[in-house]
Amino acid sequence: MQTRTMSAPTQAAARIQPGQALAIADGVHWVGALDPDLRTFDIVLATANGTTYNSYVVRGERGVAVIDTVKAAFAPEFFRRLESVCRYDEIRAIVLNHLEPDHSGALPELMQRAPEAHVYLSSRAPMMFKALLKATDITPAAFTLVQTGSRLDLGGRTLAFYQTPFLHWPDTQCTYVPELGLLFSGDVFGCHFCDDRLFNDKVGDFRFSFEYYYAHIMRPFRQHVLAALDLLEPLALTLIAPAHGPVLRQNPRHYLARYRQLAAGRLDEQMVGEKTLLIFYLSAYGATRMMAEAIATGAEAETGVRVSLYDLEVGDVSPFIDLIETADGIVIGSPTLNGDAAKPVWELLASLHTIHVRGKLGAAFGSYGWSGEAVAMMEDRLKGLRLHVPFEGLRLKLVPTEEELAQCQELGRKLAHHLVTPPGELCAAAA
Ligand code: FEO
Repeated sequence: MQTRTMSAPTQAAARIQPGQALAIADGVHWVGALDPDLRTFDIVLATANGTTYNSYVVRGERGVAVIDTVKAAFAPEFFRRLESVCRYDEIRAIVLNHLEPDHSGALPELMQRAPEAHVYLSSRAPMMFKALLKATDITPAAFTLVQTGSRLDLGGRTLAFYQTPFLHWPDTQCTYVPELGLLFSGDVFGCHFCDDRLFNDKVGDFRFSFEYYYAHIMRPFRQHVLAALDLLEPLALTLIAPAHGPVLRQNPRHYLARYRQLAAGRLDEQMVGEKTLLIFYLSAYGATRMMAEAIATGAEAETGVRVSLYDLEVGDVSPFIDLIETADGIVIGSPTLNGDAAKPVWELLASLHTIHVRGKLGAAFGSYGWSGEAVAMMEDRLKGLRLHVPFEGLRLKLVPTEEELAQCQELGRKLAHHLVTPPGELCAAAA
């Protein structure tokens, strides 16, 4: 890892003023917008004290670069700040780390105001870029696709590009200024937290927002987070300037370390060499529970699989999400109630979009009285989440017989065997 002695600005952070940019480093200004009244972002994210749309200006000897813009409704605020630190004819580059509308909303107007500026996009961004401009009369001719290793020399300030796809859109990238140790990180390391003191050592306690943002935006892309950290951790870092929330000048490396902790599999170290199978169930009269226990018994007979059994009647499903994130397979059981699976089962299944479950092994089971739709419904949801569901779900009428419990054990055995068998051998067995 490189070491660097440069230091971030340590003077007291002034509050953001209307129409004024705020210096965050030598020749670099924040020109974004505050949105303190926002209470829900993207329909689903709670934003208890609003958010910020962070845009930045980097001044080099040969021109100015604008890094990201703001949500369209905040364009007037953005342009006033931008005009406080540069003229439009000085803008040589517009860099888009991410094209979601909260960062690209003011882009069409910026391109009109600064027609000489060249646009720099990640290699996955052109389709979205063209869609963004289709309702305008701007022809997106002048743009350059960058990749990791691409650099733009502004004169004394270099913009170095690092591709961080799927954090959280395919197009996402980071832009680094090596002379300053400054990383413009896009949504990565950001959070929805609005405080006009801007810097992490001056704003209020935003730890909850940081964790909440990770959990809801980045967590489904855990493997991409780890890949991005491998790319970014070797950089000398004085300052991280994300696209939302505080600018991270105090101990910026802490935020990389926290991302690595959050993205790491919690049980990975203890479970080396073992596969994990989680069995969740709800039971009205004990029949589905009997099935769950029999599936567990069958699975436990397979060496190399650690089986866990959980009753969803406890109500709060949130502790199970962490477990599922690092598990290899999940099996879900529910009785059929009025033609449906029980509510806690749906709460569990509805929570799985926040983590990466694609490719995990899945199965469903349940006892029923009259119609027994729950098993197929749960199976459909597991398949919709892209779990691998190789075995037909097991639905049994009322209390299982000994013979039926043996079927449950056999399902457990097959699931466990599937987990420990290399994919090539499974294909050969199926052929
Ligand atoms: Fe802040 Fe993904 O936009």
